Formats: sequence, structure tokens, C-alpha cells
Amino acid sequence: MSSKARNIVVTSALPYANGPIHIGHMLEYIQTDIWVRFQKLRGHTCIYVCADDAHGTPIMLRAQAEGITPEALIERMQQEHQTDFGDFGVDFDNYYSTHSDENRHFAELIYTRLKDDGHIRTQVISQSYDPLAEMFLPDRFIKGECPNCGKDDQYGDNCENCGATYAPTDLKNPISVVTGVTPIEKDSEQYFFKVSDFSDMLKEWTRAGHIQKEIANKMDEWLEDGLRDWDISRNAPYWGFEIPDAPGKYFYVWLDAPIGYMASFKNWCEKNQGNFDDYWQADSDAELYHFIGKDIARFHTLFWPAMLHGAGFRKPTAVYCHGFLTVDGQKMSKSRGTFIMARTYLQHLNPEYLRYYFAAKLGSGVDDIDLSLDDFTARVNSDLVGKVVNVASRCAGFINKRFDGKLAANMSTNSLSQACIAASDSIAEAYEDREFARAMREIMALADKANQYIDEKQPWVCIKDEARHDEVHDVCTIGINCFRQLVILLKPVLPKLATEAEAFLNVKPLYWHDLANDLLSHDINRFKPLMTRIDKVYIDRMIEASKEAEAAEKKITSQNKDSDIEPIDAEINYDDFAKLDFRIARIVKAKRVEKSDKLLQLTLDIGDETRNVFAGISGAYDPATLEGKLTVMVANLASRKMRFGVSEGMVLAAGSGDTELFVLHPDEGAKPGMRVR
Ligand code: 2FM
Ligand code: ZN
Repeated sequence: MSSKARNIVVTSALPYANGPIHIGHMLEYIQTDIWVRFQKLRGHTCIYVCADDAHGTPIMLRAQAEGITPEALIERMQQEHQTDFGDFGVDFDNYYSTHSDENRHFAELIYTRLKDDGHIRTQVISQSYDPLAEMFLPDRFIKGECPNCGKDDQYGDNCENCGATYAPTDLKNPISVVTGVTPIEKDSEQYFFKVSDFSDMLKEWTRAGHIQKEIANKMDEWLEDGLRDWDISRNAPYWGFEIPDAPGKYFYVWLDAPIGYMASFKNWCEKNQGNFDDYWQADSDAELYHFIGKDIARFHTLFWPAMLHGAGFRKPTAVYCHGFLTVDGQKMSKSRGTFIMARTYLQHLNPEYLRYYFAAKLGSGVDDIDLSLDDFTARVNSDLVGKVVNVASRCAGFINKRFDGKLAANMSTNSLSQACIAASDSIAEAYEDREFARAMREIMALADKANQYIDEKQPWVCIKDEARHDEVHDVCTIGINCFRQLVILLKPVLPKLATEAEAFLNVKPLYWHDLANDLLSHDINRFKPLMTRIDKVYIDRMIEASKEAEAAEKKITSQNKDSDIEPIDAEINYDDFAKLDFRIARIVKAKRVEKSDKLLQLTLDIGDETRNVFAGISGAYDPATLEGKLTVMVANLASRKMRFGVSEGMVLAAGSGDTELFVLHPDEGAKPGMRVR
């Protein structure tokens, strides 16, 4: 039944190691896992690899905000991610990290090969820089007013209000979300990958069946506009791999992220005696598929094939994009409780419900998928519980109680079984083409057929007549055999139900080719309900819990977090204000911080204790002139780990920029430690 054996590598996008997995992520991992499980069920060699995407500024800043090292953060996140994926039945052959030796090796190798072949150039460019944090700012770390519609609090790359896209320098009244200061422009040398060297190759690749038509159309636009060179470097401080022979320059996270697919596969090879080159050399006949969201297509359909090609590796067989997940027709929303974390879902509902629902909605296109919570409940209850499991539960009791748990020696008709076999090629084709919704429809039509058959035969009536017991045995054996086939057909989607059904049927793990075999004169085990109905109360609880989980996450990320500085005109209520502990402080000592143009290190006496504070006032003050003076500090600001040490509060100063700053001093008579009210 299965065609020629294939060697396949499959990947899902690597989740960032700075936050938890939510059900929007799960759409992709479930889609990929179903496809991989289908390939394995058909007897192919299919290696599913993934990893945490562990580099970049947001991870560096989150670690700082939590007061831990990036290594500790990414390790914790990876554990959490792996547990979530495992509990959703996503069965990676290898799960790894981009912060690994293998990834450093391949990132350096690919970069060096590209450089040696003249595909890398350098250029001095001007970028936004936070003078207080002393770091260049990614677009997402600059906020301000949209240059198009004037809406405030918009990110540096696009406006959520009007959809305009722009450069961070176009924002009006920009602020750094790291410290709240106005960013300045600063020049530095950067490394660029000359993607345009690969324009011809990409033009051909785009139309050679490797990507969906919607994405190919988008690619045509990019290619027609002309490819711009891609900035693959970032300045220190940056959390990532330093570029060989370029001290202080790091690979941009998006350079080493897709290389993480190779690194994870290499790590799998090390553990399983696999041959890396068989899968990745330029003329490999193995297949390589990337499942991703449509928002990151450009990285996978332009830069990634160009990098691979330029460095002498094979290109992907296909890149499969999916759409976004909406809940009840709208973007997932934290306040509505529809921004549901994987863990929150798992605490309330069976993961296989969601696997089935996603399968029932997924096609091969890039359209968004809606999780309508009412429809979700209705479909799971009607299809899985009411149709599939019902076939087994209607027949098993008779076999267990009346026939000593043994199936009949033969079946009077195999029309149900033949219907399943007849439909199986079309169902397999639907799985292969990622037309899972069609596969589910065809399988449910078979389950309907099985239930109609049992309805017509009425075993519960026949059993009352001793003379018709053989008939009941026959009907129930036919029913159980059909159930077994339904389980095989659904196994990629419902692996846990399949394992439990295999235990009930007392059979070894089922494969696709087992569809053709009958189970006769065979002992089955006692039937236990394989799946229960969804009660709406669990959905309501999950939504409530999502609202609470969001509040808790917000608390963690805002504690001591630089990026939560509100715009100056944000309104706070009296309670918020009352939480601020302003104190009079005496500046006991003030000194410049080595290697920092901006910071002074202040030792502050606040009566019963001494505080160490780094203040961005070096451009405005000679430190000696501050010593002995009184000022005002925020004394209950959580400590912040900085490059030079821990800052334990903030002093108040007026003004903006580097030199026009005025430290506030109280009138004579104020004493260190006094509360300001
Ligand atoms: O968009 C994201 O979440 C990225 N972390 C995906 C990376 S996919 C691959 F290139 F590594
Ligand atoms: Zn706007």
C-alpha cells in the first residue's frame, strides 16, 4: 500500500526562548506532527527536528529583567517548551537549542563559505542607539507616535492602528523601551549578505513547486522590487554567536535560527548514528520540509535557500506556510482570555480535542484558521465521542460480556471494511497534501457508515433472542474491525487514543498497511471509555484561567523590566502613585563608570542604608560637584542588573538628552531617609 520508502527531514519553526508556548504556536506543531506521524505510519523514515531559538536582544533583556543569565533563562524555557510539546503529543525526534556547539559550527561554516565566495560585504550604517543602556535598539524596542496616523505607543517598524510600515527614525517622539530615553543615531560597521547574488537561482526556485502559490506570488514581488542585501550582524551587547574575525560583532538571531534546523539534525545524527551528509549535501535525494507561519516566509524562502545554496548545501524540498490562529473570529486577546497558553489549555482539556479540531480545519493554504469554541465543543462531541468512539462502545460490551471477549472466527460481510480500504488512498493523499480537513471529513463519513450499520442491525434487540447470538457476534466483530480501521486512519491525529485503542484491541502498534488485515478469533480487552464529551464548563474555566495566567505573566515580565516604561502621558491612579517610595538621599560618593560615556556611579545615603545607583548623568555633571549634595531617589524600584553592577534605585533629574540634565535637590533642612510626599 505504501509507495517507495522515502528519507525525510521535517522541521517546525523554532520557538523563541523568551516566552511560553500558546495555542497559536500549537497550530503549527500539531500540523507538522500530524504530517510526520502520517509519514511514519506509512513506513517512511521521517526525522522531525526542532529547537529553541535561543539568541537575540529580547532574550538578553528578559534574562536581565529576571536577574538571571541568558543561559539559565534559555535552559528553563527549553524545559517548559519541551514539556508542553510532549503533553500535546508532539513527538520530535530531536529537540535542541540554537545556543549549541553544532549551531555555532554550522553558522561559522556557512558564513565563512559565503564570505570566501564574496557574498559578504561590510558597510557603515546609522542605527538607533540607547545612550543610557549603551546599546543599539532593534525596531521593536523603539516606540513612539505613528508618522502616518499619529497614534502613540507604536513600535518602530509598523503601526498597529493604521498598518503603516516605516523606519524607527520616522517615529515622532521616539523612546527606547529599554530605558525610556530618546534614542540617538549612531554609526557602526555592519556585515551584509548579498542576497541579490542569488536572484536568478531564487527566481527559478520560486516557480519549481517548492512553495505555495500565494507565497510564490509574494516572492515574485520581492524579486521584482530587487533584493536588498541583508544585515546579518549586530553590535555588542548582544546575546548570540560572535562573528569570526569580527570582535564585538554578533550574528543576527535570524542568521543562526534556520541553521538551528541543521544543528538539531546533526545532534540527532550524533545520537542515532545518522549520516548528516546524506540529508544535507547539495545533491541529496532525501526530502527536506519546513513548516512555518506565513509571517516568516521571507526568511525561509529567500534568505535560507540563498544561504544554503551559497554554502554548498541542498535547498528545501518545500516550505509549507500556514495562516494565523484566531479565536472566535478575532485575534487572540489577553483581556478576553483567548490568548491561551499551551499549559493553561492542558490543565483543562484533553490535548487530542485540539489536535482533532485543528486537523478538521486545516487545509494546504495560508488562510487563517478560526478556533470557534462552540464549534470546537460540538465537533469533538459529535465526531470523536458520538461517532468514532461510539462504534467501539456499542460493540465491545457484547463481545466482552456475551462472547468471552473473543471476536468471531469470520465476518458475514466486509462491506464496512472494504469501504475503509477503498477510501484509504484518497485519505492518504489528503494527509500527504496537508488537506487534513478533507481527510477528517472522509474518515467521519466512514464512521457514520459504521454507526448506520449498527443502527440497522440492532444488536441490543437481537441479543434478547438466543437464536440470534451468532448474528450479534458477527455484527459486533464487523463493528470492532471497522473501529480498528478508523483508529489507523486517525492515528496521525489522535496518537494517544490510538495507543489506548491498541491496548483495548490487544494488538501491536498499528501501521497503515494493517488496514487490509482483519481481526478474527482474537481476544480483546475490556472496553474503557476512550474519550469523554467536552463540557462547556471546562472551556469557561480555561478562559478564566487564561485571564489570570496573563496577569501573572505580566507581573513577572514587568518586575524589574526595563521595557515596561510607560510613555510620559500614561495615566496612573492614586494607588499606583502611593506605591512609589521617594526618599531624600545624600550623594556620599560619585564617580565615572569606566567604559561608559553616560553613567555615574552614585553611593547614596538614605538614612538607615546605603544604595548603589547608576545614573545616566555623566554628560551633565562633574562627579565631584555632586558629592555631599542632597537629592531625591525612588527607593523601592526593584534592583536592576547592569553591565557594571547592580543599580538599586533611581535619582530624579529633569531635562532630556545627555548634557541638559538637572538633578533635583530638596530645600535646606531635609534629611537623608525622609519620605517625600
Ligand atoms: O518567528 C519566530 O518565532 C522565530 N523564532 C522562528 C525561527 S524559525 C527558524 F528559522 F529558526
Ligand atoms: Zn498609524
